[in-house]
Amino acid sequence: MRTKLVAGNWKLHKTVAEARALVEELSVRLRGLGGRRAEVAVMPPFTALWAVREACSAAGLQLGAQDVHWEEQGAFTGEVSAKMLRDVGCQYVIVGHSERRAMFGDTPENVGKKAAAVLGAGLVPIICVGETLAERERGETMAVVRAQLEAAVAPVTAGDAPTIVIAYEPVWAIGTGKNAETYQAQEVHEHIRGLLRSAFGEGVTDAIRILYGGSVKPSNAGDLMSAPDIDGALVGGASLSADSFAGIVAAAENRP
Ligand code: PGA
Repeated sequence: MRTKLVAGNWKLHKTVAEARALVEELSVRLRGLGGRRAEVAVMPPFTALWAVREACSAAGLQLGAQDVHWEEQGAFTGEVSAKMLRDVGCQYVIVGHSERRAMFGDTPENVGKKAAAVLGAGLVPIICVGETLAERERGETMAVVRAQLEAAVAPVTAGDAPTIVIAYEPVWAIGTGKNAETYQAQEVHEHIRGLLRSAFGEGVTDAIRILYGGSVKPSNAGDLMSAPDIDGALVGGASLSADSFAGIVAAAENRP
């Protein structure tokens, strides 16, 4: 049985004061849910990580970053290493988000190097994969996801594999309000689990969590996460309010 993970990707939002306020409000809402059965993580911008780490740990929230560079140190202006992210209290790091791939030059190979660097620092990568609308319409979804996934996990050892997290995020569903139907997501998640099984074997693959991301909200989260291979959600827009994010956590836990 895989513990569900609900992760909030805040993207380019929140000053330090705003981030503190959101974590505070979220911790109150989550306390209201009583004993929790899902794991919950927030991914603020780099600038707010250190400021919210204590409040997160007091609230039982995991902390994550939205990107990383694969080198540990050196002349890489503007970059942040996995070791630095561990240093400020992170447990998770998103790698290969479609916005990084589309706008900031993340290649399939670089995503693999980032995943390996994150694991090397003792942190957990959340590896994002997903097709564009044009690719889906051309019937290329499975091939695109396969190519992205294989490149990203190529440097991952079987020993590290059980801890990694995959996020299937169809690009056409991100920030559009139009989520994938549960059966569409489940189909791709099943495909991803099959690919992981070929790479790492049965037992290891059973432990790997595959999240769905793309316009997840309280109203669709429960149905999406009831599918057998959907082990949680990577949430963008709806993670920016404590109300809607706590609603998604409640849905992950099958609470009314
Ligand atoms: P969204 O973003 O929930 O706003 O669609 C998801 C993501 O990009 O991780």
